[in-house]
Amino acid sequence: MLKDNHGREHSYLRISLTEKCNLRCTYCMPEDGVDLRPSREYMTVKEVLNLARQFVELGVNKIRLTGGEPLVFKGFSEVLIGLAELPVELSITTNGIQLHKYFDELQRANVSKINISIDTLEEEKFNVLTRRKGFSKVWQSIREAIKRGFHVKLNMVVMKGFNDNEVVDFVALTNDLPIEVRFIEFMPFDGNQWNWDKVVPEAQLMNVIEQHFGQSSLQTLPLEKNYIARTFSLPDAKGCFGFISTMTHSFCGGCNRIRLTADGHIKNCLFTDDEIDLLTPLREGKSVVHLIEQSIKNKHPRNGGIDFENPASIHAHRSMISIGG
Ligand code: GTP
Ligand code: 5AD
Ligand code: SF4
Repeated sequence: MLKDNHGREHSYLRISLTEKCNLRCTYCMPEDGVDLRPSREYMTVKEVLNLARQFVELGVNKIRLTGGEPLVFKGFSEVLIGLAELPVELSITTNGIQLHKYFDELQRANVSKINISIDTLEEEKFNVLTRRKGFSKVWQSIREAIKRGFHVKLNMVVMKGFNDNEVVDFVALTNDLPIEVRFIEFMPFDGNQWNWDKVVPEAQLMNVIEQHFGQSSLQTLPLEKNYIARTFSLPDAKGCFGFISTMTHSFCGGCNRIRLTADGHIKNCLFTDDEIDLLTPLREGKSVVHLIEQSIKNKHPRNGGIDFENPASIHAHRSMISIGG
């Protein structure tokens, strides 16, 4: 088991398959995009599967595929087939644009959980935020995923003055749809023009929700193991809603997450710059097990050592698109 110096056991691996994406969300990447490197600097399908197997041998039992947008990775289907043979719970986080093409393959690979990013219910705003089009495709896929019985979570990054006025509408969706809506506090990454003025703290959102639906009507749901979202439901609702409140409530104490970037680096925290290259030694035929163990051991107790109250300490050198969330 991959245990760090603070006693946290790491069993959840998030693999970013690509730094490419078919959208250009403002909170995720700079306007001009990110510079892609020559393709040989990224993991091939074989390398992804090789590293995934090694992580599983070290105790990983849950793998989430991310990106960029994982479904634009050319070898996505092969990766899925390979990972389906491993004893892990497989899941994916996607922007939903290409999802309709992959439902059958995902079902064959026993993927039962899909997290979909959708930050607004208004098409025009969607176009502004993503700097692309595709709102109706995403909605159709959300509906299809629900129809097919996938466990669907919707990720909504809340940005003050942009989409915070839609929070009640998102909660209302959970009355009729068996989904989990997650309101995510806007987080700082390279090139995403973050500042505290754009963050809407969970407490403020909860106030608005309570005022609208009535405080006593909200039911608090039990926390999941290694939770990152506090979750609630409306009376007799089919779905529920929750908050991922990294900026105002750290949930690092129970963190079980490891990240593998598309260029084959292990990243022990979303916010750390302290990565270890696994791809180079793998290609040289060397063992990477001790590097994985070393990375986990040295994991910082909280937010990769960043103090969000001190902007000078926010130095993450990667954009979200090249971390994978
Ligand atoms: P579940 O398996 O459904 O819990 O998925 P998830 O929430 O781990 O994954 P998803 O890719 O949907 O991420 C949702 C949001 O949580 C994104 O904004 C991520 O950046 C954020 N997130 C995921 N892992 C971490 C983490 O380790 N630390 C912090 N601070 N945020 C995280
Ligand atoms: N702050 C918070 N969440 C973000 N995501 C992407 N960028 C940010 C950010 N700056 C979320 C998206 C996606 C998930 C993987 O990460 O909602 O669903
Ligand atoms: Fe693409 Fe996801 Fe980043 Fe949006 S958040 S640009 S959908 S990778």
